[in-house]
Amino acid sequence: MKREIIQTADGSNTIHIPDMDENYHSTHGALQEALHVFIKNGLELKKELSQLDIFEMGFGTGLNALLCFIEAEKGKQHISYKGIEAYPVEPELIQAIRYEDLVDDCFHKGFQQMHELSWNETHALTNNFTFEKIHSKIEEYLVEHEQIDLVFYDAFGPKAQEAMWHPSILKKMFDMLKPNGTLVTYCAKGQVKRDLKALGFTIEAVPGPPGKREMTLAHKN
Ligand SMILES: C[S@@+](CC[C@H](N)C(=O)[O-])C[C@H]1O[C@@H](n2cnc3c(N)ncnc32)[C@H](O)[C@@H]1O
Repeated sequence: MKREIIQTADGSNTIHIPDMDENYHSTHGALQEALHVFIKNGLELKKELSQLDIFEMGFGTGLNALLCFIEAEKGKQHISYKGIEAYPVEPELIQAIRYEDLVDDCFHKGFQQMHELSWNETHALTNNFTFEKIHSKIEEYLVEHEQIDLVFYDAFGPKAQEAMWHPSILKKMFDMLKPNGTLVTYCAKGQVKRDLKALGFTIEAVPGPPGKREMTLAHKN
């Protein structure tokens, strides 16, 4: 599958997949989208937890993990971050995407380590940030129940990869969340919200990032 780097409207890069006509992030701004969806409307909601367990569906370039790493270091909140990825991005593309240029020098090493460290093992990057990347398809991943506070649901969109939004996959997210846990996604599709509600989530629609009217929070309470 061919992947190429493209620049988005805020100057940050993303990956484009010509065969799927799909991007890893919004072309309106990859960094802006990640900050709005997963930090402002995700991590910020869970600021009061001194220990925060995050699961990311679709680790990809590691941009969301990098932003959480920075927040953990700044906020001195302890974050355990797990990201699942079936099709790891080639090291050359990670180098070419230049996400280091978006952040202070002191965070470069952590980002590099995320990509170089072994898969399927837990690594303590710092005292505040524990990291594991899981090399697996989500369909084959066995979920541990009620371990996670916050799910970053960052799969390709339903048009490009409908299977990722099937209720059987969304149920895995419900099962892994602790009571009062939250799933956050850029997606605001009606059918996805109805499926999340049918699983037992309480749905909250909030303003989306640039270029998108709405995004979704799904609370397990
Ligand atoms: C929208 S991109 C993720 C973007 C990523 N969060 C980032 O910031 O770079 C979706 C990701 O899901 C991965 N993916 C696709 N199918 C998958 C599957 N069945 N199981 C796990 N990951 C999958 C893709 O390889 C891709 O990296």
